[in-house]
Amino acid sequence: VIFEDSNEASIRVAEEIADLIRKKQAVGKNCVLGLATGSSPIRVYEELVRMHKEEGLSFSNVVTFNLDEYLPMDKGNMQSYYYFMHEHLFNHVDIPSENVNIPDGKITQGEVVDYCLAYEKKIKDNGGLDFQLLGIGRTGHIGFNEPGSHRNSGTRVITLDHITRVDAAPAFLGIDNVPRKAITMGIATVRNAKRIVLLGWGHNKAEIIKDTVEGNISSQVPATYLQEHNNVTFVLDVGAGSEL
Ligand code: GLP
Repeated sequence: VIFEDSNEASIRVAEEIADLIRKKQAVGKNCVLGLATGSSPIRVYEELVRMHKEEGLSFSNVVTFNLDEYLPMDKGNMQSYYYFMHEHLFNHVDIPSENVNIPDGKITQGEVVDYCLAYEKKIKDNGGLDFQLLGIGRTGHIGFNEPGSHRNSGTRVITLDHITRVDAAPAFLGIDNVPRKAITMGIATVRNAKRIVLLGWGHNKAEIIKDTVEGNISSQVPATYLQEHNNVTFVLDVGAGSEL
């Protein structure tokens, strides 16, 4: 779906998420959301916060799993995805803190394999992801599933692509400060979500959006695996959709 601008598009996505939360609430169930960071979802979170404050949308039945976190990364660091999510969403809504799951960037090398398996298990134990929100990186990554990621991959440690580190450099005040690794949910983790919405804004995403939507399915563009999902929508603005 191509919108005139990302603001209108973000409001529509926030409405879909709010409807799902309310629908689950009505039947006394939790709503399990997979959440993304980056600039693309910021306006969606802002709208959800507005709905909480002005329309009484409650997050008391919401359980969240974030896609990824840099490694190593301290929670208190302003570049952490932990900080980002609290700043843009969790600090402003009534979600119980025990319902918030974000990969821990402080996990040690010895613990990380068990930690990733436990993250997967926790998603399953919660009934799986009802809704997964995604952005897309210029390398075709979703979460931090860089080129080479397998369609059956689960939560794991990955090495960040050089292009991804270049794109992150301004936020870290230089590429030398950008971590080389990250923990990310896998392609299979994302694909198991019942519903997926990928956001793409601006001309600089146009080429990778074209490759993802119209190109052959390939591990070289991990987002192409989304073509195999039966309930995925790409929500774009005219810039990001301009090459389609
Ligand atoms: C990071 C995140 C991705 C995100 C991507 C695009 O790499 N790990 O989840 O989709 O950035 O970011 P932006 O939305 O700022 O373009």
